Amino acid sequence: MRIGIYGGSFDPVHDGHIAMINSALKSGFIDLVIVIPSVRNNFKLYANKLPPPYRFYMMQETIEGLGIKNCLVSDVEYGIDGVSYTAVVLKKLTSEEYITDFLIKNDVKKKKAEEHHEFFWIMGSDTLGTFETWYNPGEILNYVTLLAAVRPGDTTDVDKAAASVKKNLGGKVEIFRLKGIDCSSSGITTSGDFSKVPEPAREFIKRHALYTENTKLEGVSEEAKKQFYESSVWMYKYLGAKRLLHTLNVGYLSAHLADVFGCDKDKALIAGALHDCAKELPLEKQTELAKEYAGDLFTEKKLLHSPAGATFAKNEFGIEDKEILDAICYHTTGRGDMTLLEKIVYLADKIEPSRNYTDLTPIRTAAESDLDSAMRMTASAVRDKFVSQGRDIHLMTLLMMRDLGME
Ligand SMILES: [Fe+2]
Ligand SMILES: [Fe+2]
Repeated sequence: MRIGIYGGSFDPVHDGHIAMINSALKSGFIDLVIVIPSVRNNFKLYANKLPPPYRFYMMQETIEGLGIKNCLVSDVEYGIDGVSYTAVVLKKLTSEEYITDFLIKNDVKKKKAEEHHEFFWIMGSDTLGTFETWYNPGEILNYVTLLAAVRPGDTTDVDKAAASVKKNLGGKVEIFRLKGIDCSSSGITTSGDFSKVPEPAREFIKRHALYTENTKLEGVSEEAKKQFYESSVWMYKYLGAKRLLHTLNVGYLSAHLADVFGCDKDKALIAGALHDCAKELPLEKQTELAKEYAGDLFTEKKLLHSPAGATFAKNEFGIEDKEILDAICYHTTGRGDMTLLEKIVYLADKIEPSRNYTDLTPIRTAAESDLDSAMRMTASAVRDKFVSQGRDIHLMTLLMMRDLGME
């Protein structure tokens, strides 16, 4: 097959990106597009507005929602340590073993997936002009033909740029026409006008309350932002889409609540983001990790992931801060004498934006001004659920309720 590869931040994906994909597919040069939302782009290392998994799943939902055929989204960059330079990514993606496996996993027929493939790197004509300054451009050209898009009214001398790449680096360049759509991701997020964001992406953004004041993380240190970003890449290996986005949403909301109630924002962001990190580990593993943090305090299956998460975040992700680890450990049950941080993570877990198990508006409203009142509302909903299911309420939850003045 002839495969076009299209990399970018997609922060957020917009109509211009979609036009690029559709025009490339219609150009006659390629049969399939593989989109790669960046993980650690060297030009924007940690400077994206959203951590990688949001951009990856937003792109996946968009391609699916728009029904674009012959377009797949790749997570190849998650398996690369350090900066995801194009040359490094292409080396991995275009290797026979990787690409065959990837295509089969994405429902491409085995026979087709095992064919010899030819690869193209899809880019704007503007980037073609700077291509020679990229990291290892010569190596990139060993893997791909450059496929440059020219918009109507484009003033770039694309032929000259193509001739220069051919002469200096000996690569192949092809040109295709793109129906012009003038928009940029940064323009969209700066203006707040999301009309050029495709509908499925807009729904995704709304569901997770992205590109809002809360996701700007104002007042959070650069170090914590970096750790948040890296935690999302680390957890991608262990959690499915829904749970990963949930746990990251809890990070954002915890940071916001920390702002409202005067708690450490960095710690709230990290504790919230990591709170469910162990939830999809095998049960035996959870049992072992839970014991390491809290002995026999937690035995019920559904609770194990909380203390297990504390051990996992400590041993595998390197979190040493006891307050953060405790907030992870007690996020499901609560306990007596909870710290402000523990309360915040407990509450954020129950009401983050994508939660919709019941009408959460009253609790969300309370959470903006009276933490204990929001905690009481949450705890009483939890109590009702347990009673209706005939389950025993954990002793530590009873202690939390006592502290909150509930009988
Ligand atoms: Fe949990
Ligand atoms: Fe959770």
